[in-house]
Amino acid sequence: MDITGTTALVTGANRGIGLQYVNELLARGVAKVYATARRPDLIDTSDRRVTPLHLDLLDEKSIAEAAAVATDVTLIVNNAGITTGADLVTGDLDKIRLDMETHFFGTLRVIRAFAPVLAAHGGGAIINVMSVLSWFANEGTGSYSAAKAAEWNMTNGVRAELAGQGTLVQGVHLGAADTDIMAGRDVPKIDPAKVARASLDGLRAGSVEVLVDEPSRIVKAMLSAPLGAPPTASDARAVR
Ligand SMILES: NC(=O)c1ccc[n+]([C@@H]2O[C@H](COP(=O)([O-])OP(=O)(O)OC[C@H]3O[C@@H](n4cnc5c(N)ncnc54)[C@H](OP(=O)(O)O)[C@@H]3O)[C@@H](O)[C@H]2O)c1
Repeated sequence: MDITGTTALVTGANRGIGLQYVNELLARGVAKVYATARRPDLIDTSDRRVTPLHLDLLDEKSIAEAAAVATDVTLIVNNAGITTGADLVTGDLDKIRLDMETHFFGTLRVIRAFAPVLAAHGGGAIINVMSVLSWFANEGTGSYSAAKAAEWNMTNGVRAELAGQGTLVQGVHLGAADTDIMAGRDVPKIDPAKVARASLDGLRAGSVEVLVDEPSRIVKAMLSAPLGAPPTASDARAVR
């Protein structure tokens, strides 16, 4: 997909990886980008191609209203996300539901609302920003990992369902990027701009999956190994 001159929409565009998507889309020559956020007043509108829009993944009405306004969109970037840090066995069930509501149902609501808009413009593309934790869980990541795993296979299902209308559905996976969600975690982190660049490079090449960094590439490759197989020392270092 050539994004020059197109109109895009990014969720969670006020900070982190979402903000980097907006910047990268502008640098690559989009005509317009709807930068959506729970608080659109936080969106930087110094570039006149940026249109701030209210969109909360937990508020179906806000998504329907955004879809009624942004009828010219051909690229959706489903980026917004959280982590409650809830444990699956002992954690607060409401927090576990919040992870699932945000990553799975929230992202799916956006896709359902905008699929007809994309169809009306010849198909376009959807990007879902996921994680290496779509494929494994550790102590402390259980609820988030389950939500991202659900989002991953939702992405696969949506890709199949929207193929007929010509919509490319790309899944993006990464280990750790230097944003607020990872604040206080002492692990190697990539520049969040790298996520947006790799994803949009992939879009240009027609890639339905983008593995942004070493941890995501290693873990995806290890999925074919027997469950419980010990990673090599260098693999373990890369995904820690
Ligand atoms: N950073 C990493 O290491 C990493 C690794 C793997 C995957 N990811 C994924 O990358 C995506 C972006 O994360 P990030 O690193 O940029 O985190 P971040 O800096 O914490 O930003 C999260 C963004 O999502 C928005 N958001 C959260 N809940 C929302 C909701 N209900 N409705 C609308 N917007 C909502 C936030 O808005 P507010 O400002 O209103 O809170 C914020 O704009 C997420 O899907 C995350 O799971 C990140």
